[in-house]
Amino acid sequence: MLKTWLTDITGIQYPIIQGGMGPYSTNRLCAAVANAGGLGIISLIGMGVQHSEATPVDPTLVFGDGSTEDYIERSLEYVKNETQTNQGIFGINCPVSIEFIEAAQRLITGVFNQRSADPELQKRLRVIITSAGDPVPWQQTIRATDLLWFHVVPSIYHARRAAKAGVDAIIASGHEGGAHISWQPVHSMVLIPGVAESTSIPVIAAGGICDGHTIAAAFALGAVGIQMGTRFIATRECDFWDVWKQGVLQSTDRDTLVGRGMFGPMRFIKNQSSLKLVEKTTELTPDFFKGQPVELNQDILKLEKQGFAKLLEDDANGALILGGEVAGRIDNLPSVKDLIVQIADQAEEIVKNLPKRCIAASNK
Ligand SMILES: Cc1cc2nc3c(=O)[nH]c(=O)nc-3n(C[C@H](O)[C@H](O)[C@H](O)COP(=O)(O)O)c2cc1C
Repeated sequence: MLKTWLTDITGIQYPIIQGGMGPYSTNRLCAAVANAGGLGIISLIGMGVQHSEATPVDPTLVFGDGSTEDYIERSLEYVKNETQTNQGIFGINCPVSIEFIEAAQRLITGVFNQRSADPELQKRLRVIITSAGDPVPWQQTIRATDLLWFHVVPSIYHARRAAKAGVDAIIASGHEGGAHISWQPVHSMVLIPGVAESTSIPVIAAGGICDGHTIAAAFALGAVGIQMGTRFIATRECDFWDVWKQGVLQSTDRDTLVGRGMFGPMRFIKNQSSLKLVEKTTELTPDFFKGQPVELNQDILKLEKQGFAKLLEDDANGALILGGEVAGRIDNLPSVKDLIVQIADQAEEIVKNLPKRCIAASNK
């Protein structure tokens, strides 16, 4: 049985976190992960930004009547009830980048208010994961609660900022990951050991993880647990549309592209739509790949909105499908429980057998 700082501090069974995947709902996925012994995460940001073509509303994904407070209340209620029998542990994720500050304040305060009025939520909603912005200004608000606080970083520079904020753990998320990624590419193999060496705060690895091999590698690189996004999309319980799950399943290892997303670079699964977006990105913002933020072009934004709207039409070529490089290593659609048990067992086996493969017997 894998046992690390992460399992000890949170009370989860496996050191596996389901990454927040806003602006889409991950309520069902969160409940399934929590029930399976991992840390399920409710993705908050879609409940706070106005729904538009860019965050299409599928009736099956909506929890609530459209107001932020109602979305929050129903989502927390749903996850709490679905995980009651197994006493599943879960958390929330909220990006705190500059574009989202107001929404983030409303969302985080909304969750804290609900939680402080509900002993069951206090017991089982244990973690807040912030991402994408500066964690330092959030110190007072978050430290006024008893929640564990993890922050996602794409570089050692950002890890130092998270350490300054006094977070409990740092999630180091490599550039191969799905959806928004940083302007300056640092992939997991470089990022995770770099962050682990640069701080004494526990590190959780993300970006490119999907199985026992990559979990074992994350431990070797200095992590105490892992977070996965793309792998969890291709599960039966994931809230996302079938066209998205199929996009992940059909990808090979050379099938992702980085183009302009609303708030910076984004990694997409390669199809007609993402190819067009990347073409426009290079044509209209030629400095895009120079590692410094460039302004968002309105024609690109329009294209992006159209692509996200096509998800609702089940249009495999027209839809913009977000996913990480690891999509190329994913070819099955298991239940969340089967996935977690299988990859945790595999990781344990690999860790146990590693000395036989690479340490010479001293007394032969
Ligand atoms: C569709 C999608 C949406 C995402 N949205 C968020 C988000 O709202 N907040 C966040 O912190 N991370 C977000 N992420 C990043 C994931 O939480 C996770 O760190 C990342 O997917 C890990 O890399 P992987 O895709 O290789 O597993 C998103 C990822 C995907 C694929």
